[in-house]
Amino acid sequence: THAPVVDVLKGKYAVGEQVTVKGWVRTRRDSKAGLSFVALHDGSCFDPVQVIALNSLSNYQDIQRLTAGCAISVVGSVKESKGQGQALEIEAESVEVVGWVENPDTYPMAAKRHSIEFLREYAHLRPRTNVIGAVTRVRNCLSQAIHRFFHERGYYWISTPILTASDTEGAGEMFRVSTLDMMNIPRTDKGEVDYSKDFFGKETYLTVSGQLNVETYCNAMSKVYTFGPTFRAENSNTSRHLAEFWMIEPEVAFADLSDVAQLAEDMLKYVCKAVLDERADDMAFFAQRINKDVIDRLEKLIHSDFVRMDYTDAIEILKASGKQFEFPVDWGVDLSSEHERYLAEEHVGAPIIMQNYPKDIKAFYMRLNDDGKTVAAMDILAPGIGEIIGGSQREERLDVFDERLEAMGLDKEDYNWYRDLRRYGTVPHSGFGLGFERLVAYVTGMQNVRDVIPFPRTPGNASF
Ligand code: 4AD
Ligand code: MG
Repeated sequence: THAPVVDVLKGKYAVGEQVTVKGWVRTRRDSKAGLSFVALHDGSCFDPVQVIALNSLSNYQDIQRLTAGCAISVVGSVKESKGQGQALEIEAESVEVVGWVENPDTYPMAAKRHSIEFLREYAHLRPRTNVIGAVTRVRNCLSQAIHRFFHERGYYWISTPILTASDTEGAGEMFRVSTLDMMNIPRTDKGEVDYSKDFFGKETYLTVSGQLNVETYCNAMSKVYTFGPTFRAENSNTSRHLAEFWMIEPEVAFADLSDVAQLAEDMLKYVCKAVLDERADDMAFFAQRINKDVIDRLEKLIHSDFVRMDYTDAIEILKASGKQFEFPVDWGVDLSSEHERYLAEEHVGAPIIMQNYPKDIKAFYMRLNDDGKTVAAMDILAPGIGEIIGGSQREERLDVFDERLEAMGLDKEDYNWYRDLRRYGTVPHSGFGLGFERLVAYVTGMQNVRDVIPFPRTPGNASF
């Protein structure tokens, strides 16, 4: 078997030892002295390995035709590198061209700097670039660290359904799933679409959140979480919204809002530390090329306590800021991203746990506070991106819950299974949802969530 480039560069093989490496050419440079330097990458680490090919190789003419993107297999021996950069390189004994680039002039990922917008048009080739390779490794590191964090704390990972009849967030931003024949839609006597004739016998959607389902498992298994794809038909063309994104949703029994606020803080610290420990190579690149503060800000996040702030106090701070916001601030309004960013970036300069929002701007399931006006909700706002986490204590009192449903014009019958949890051994419980792409964007400093998910889905774009 062949060696990953990372093993060669980290010195797993002795100088002089024979290794085989396989991957794609990033650059080739020929020296007048009759040899070529080929930078080969295989995704296993940030740096490519330098392969030295001497003109004594039988297919040296082929090597001189190598261009960015060609796939090669190299057998050679490990050498100490005389050049700057890497300590180790490979002197080739043979180079096999596995796949040519058929016309180098048409290869979109040629080794030069491309704009991030240009790369988006090549979602199938962009993982070959430095930047998307680094994002991909950090994203993987974060997912593994999240699972490890919850596993170490005794949480069970629950798979919640993607097809559902419930609108968890009640925001009406769902993608409908139907097998009805669009040319011949069945209608009721009133002329409405007759979903009883549809596959599931009722209107069905892609889930916006696994929360309601995971709450049922929480009320039996105590500590649980979901980690899966969620879908929102929000028509927002912003740098922080996707129509398909991944969400991590822990749910904890016998826990109140401050317990899960602490859980969120611990989790963010744990996973950010994992990235600094495990992906130093990629983080150095992000600090150099994307955002110079990106490492400092993670260090700071790991070593300081998050600031906790009440919504009501935040409104006062925003009013006193003297800033002209596009959306005016007053008690009762939802915070927009400019407000969130002002608070996190300019006022505090670190992540904020914002708590106790007005009930009218939050979902039906959040627990009513004693003031009767606010709910036990929390959002975590991070500098550079705004809201990365939204969570709450859930309303566990059936009578209060029913009143809320009624006030919001929601049908009790639709929530009977959820109401059962409040009837049979109800307990205080709380949870939150972390938007995974927003976390990856925050950690890497990437400006747009479209560049931290392999195949972004946004309004008007579901190619690839
Ligand atoms: O605040 P949200 O809507 O909360 C929920 O869905 C709750 N059910 C979570 C829970 O308590 N279990 O979404 C949670 C997070 C947001 O803070 C944000 O980071 C992310 O999901 N998010 C999005 N990320 C990318 N694109 C979108 N369109 C997003 N909408 C929400
Ligand atoms: Mg939210």
